[in-house]
Amino acid sequence: MHGRGGTFPGLEHLVLDWYPPLLHLICYRPPAEGLPDQLATWLAERLDPQPRGLVLQRRDLPGAPQNLVWGRMSEHSFAIEDGLRYQLHFDRGQNIGFFPDMAVGRRLVRKRAAGRRILNLFAYTCSFSVAALAGGAAQVINLDMSRNALDWGRRNHQLNNLDPRRAGFLAHDLFKSFGKLRRLGPFDLVIADPPDTQGNSFVPERDWPRLLRRLPELLAPGGELLACMAVPRLGRSFLAATIAEHAPFLALIETLRAGEDFPEADPDKGLHLLRCRLPGP
Ligand SMILES: C[S@@+](CC[C@H](N)C(=O)[O-])C[C@H]1O[C@@H](n2cnc3c(N)ncnc32)[C@H](O)[C@@H]1O
Repeated sequence: MHGRGGTFPGLEHLVLDWYPPLLHLICYRPPAEGLPDQLATWLAERLDPQPRGLVLQRRDLPGAPQNLVWGRMSEHSFAIEDGLRYQLHFDRGQNIGFFPDMAVGRRLVRKRAAGRRILNLFAYTCSFSVAALAGGAAQVINLDMSRNALDWGRRNHQLNNLDPRRAGFLAHDLFKSFGKLRRLGPFDLVIADPPDTQGNSFVPERDWPRLLRRLPELLAPGGELLACMAVPRLGRSFLAATIAEHAPFLALIETLRAGEDFPEADPDKGLHLLRCRLPGP
């Protein structure tokens, strides 16, 4: 239930995700008294399998703490999507290791991966890499400045019995790594899914242009960019205009959205994926 999209009046501060047997409720304002309990009890009668626990995340509080507020915790938690498993952790910072709205991106990459060399920028826990290798990618290089996230990503590859020789992991700041990436390339597909502003590591208005201008060094002729954007204050229009200005050599092939599970009142907001191609064979 994607309240943040603004299509459920009065519930704009709530997001509820279902990772059987756990419910994950994210609140951007203090939840109404008793809400988590009522919700869990109501859903226990309607979901199959029955929920066993509800983890509440308070994004309105410093550090966005997560607590089990109903039922009990499973020893290990996973997201399962299209037969692939991704490890979840509810005690390692703001994010739990998996972004459910990116399913559309993972499916696209899996479908188009066969035989391709792929560069996964801002890889986090490498869910794009898992999907790509499941789709037969020749090789995926994952880059993220967080070593912990990449270790988690390695574990996601193991969980799905993917050939470790086909995945590489670089714990580097992207903007200090273009030389190294050029030597590892060229790539048939570059995935770029950066965060919203993250300290000085990534500032969308400053860093999308810097990244886009380096693409000719990284992409093979006919290679593709999958550019992802989910920053509400900027929207799809910012990304499309920035690509047109700083990477005019790319042709926009298609725009994808997160889909009907993630409705948005404003069509420019929410997750957008722009698939673009460099001219070539
Ligand atoms: C939105 S997450 C990526 C989500 C991921 N693509 C997925 O589908 O699960 C953003 C990631 O970018 C990384 N990051 C931010 N700035 C970076 C930089 N300058 N160089 C490398 N990684 C960076 C963060 O560590 C974080 O893991």
